[in-house]
Amino acid sequence: MSKSYTESTYFFGQTNPAELIQKYGSPLYVYNEAILRKRCREIKAISNYPKFQANYSVKANGNLTLLRIIREEGFCADAMSPGEIYVEEMAGFEPQEILFISNNVSPEEMRFAIDRNILISVDSLSQLEQYGKLNCGGKICIRFNPMVGAGHNAKVITGGKNTKFGVDPAAIPEVKAILEKYQLKLIGINQHIGSLFLEGSEYLQGMQAALAVARQFTDLEFIDFGGGFGIPYQKQDKQSRLDLKALGHQIHQIFIDYATECGRELTFKIEPGRYLVAECGILLGSVTAVKSNFGMHYLGTDLGFNILQRPILYGSYHDLELYRPQTGEFLDKNNAKELTTYQVVGNICESGDILAENRLLPTAQTGDILAVLDAGAYGYCMASNYNNRLRPAEVLITTDGRDILIRRRDSLQDLVRGFL
Ligand SMILES: Cc1ncc(COP(=O)(O)O)c(C=O)c1O
Repeated sequence: MSKSYTESTYFFGQTNPAELIQKYGSPLYVYNEAILRKRCREIKAISNYPKFQANYSVKANGNLTLLRIIREEGFCADAMSPGEIYVEEMAGFEPQEILFISNNVSPEEMRFAIDRNILISVDSLSQLEQYGKLNCGGKICIRFNPMVGAGHNAKVITGGKNTKFGVDPAAIPEVKAILEKYQLKLIGINQHIGSLFLEGSEYLQGMQAALAVARQFTDLEFIDFGGGFGIPYQKQDKQSRLDLKALGHQIHQIFIDYATECGRELTFKIEPGRYLVAECGILLGSVTAVKSNFGMHYLGTDLGFNILQRPILYGSYHDLELYRPQTGEFLDKNNAKELTTYQVVGNICESGDILAENRLLPTAQTGDILAVLDAGAYGYCMASNYNNRLRPAEVLITTDGRDILIRRRDSLQDLVRGFL
């Protein structure tokens, strides 16, 4: 019988899903440190250009322990909010290692970063004006729209005409006028085409767009080409991986060519989020009910969309495995003896609370544990207390296979903490 993904990756180390749930409760986010470090090293291996810098996009998963590991692996960090800056500082990132990629922020939020000596990227003329008034003579980065986009869903495509992000390169004369008016020094430009590509042509096209903008500013210290590096969510169907080595060679060559063209070494940055953390995370939940209604088979779980929003938000697909505590078996659709087509649903009071639709799975029973693969990115960080449900705990499986708690489960007291 073929091994399931979690068995073949030795995902749970010295423990197993049943022990973890008994110890920490259900649902539970579980991260594997070895996989996290492996993905970090793959990204770092893209280029040995001396001034290549990889920034982790913390929005994908802001767990403090994971941030510390990612920092150890040599990454800097992007922040999307003062809250992310705060957590990054706690994880040990220095101000010069953080880029605040702001979008429609208040003067107070800009001030938060300025006071900490953290570089801000602005993405409109009006925000550039606001920055100039707050920090006349300061350094600034500008996010331009690369006019090319990619992503797993329209909601996450951030380049091109149909998005709120970035400054239109046609507005460069106005940009220059505002820079001059406030004596601002533009030290970097950044961009992001969108989230999740498995083939690099749009990314490379976007890089060329960034260079076209860069050529219009002489003193840039860095160019940041953005993130979006995808992972295969349909592993059980043998979906191919992004060929990061091949894409890396092309990215590296663009760095070398542009540095040669400029006659100096600029810093080149990328800002991956999902690629580092998606596959090191699995969400465990419990099968609490099985029911057949009107010809449909429902697998009832404690994995409501408050725990993992991606399916309801983007229609996202996650591979699923079942773990049967009585036998210690890890079952997926490729190794199970008996299969059933299920609507896999959660415990939230909405009919849209569907984790997986018409999904062929090992025939399940209550007490089984459901493992949602590739849940490490945009998982916990999007979780909420909707229906006054508690957000789960997070556990790390260390490189030597031990399990450690890295965030406690919400308590009922947490639900009322902010009330006056
Ligand atoms: C500006 C910016 N940079 C980087 C990222 C990270 O994207 P990903 O997680 O797809 O690598 C995002 C996410 O959408 C983003 O908005």
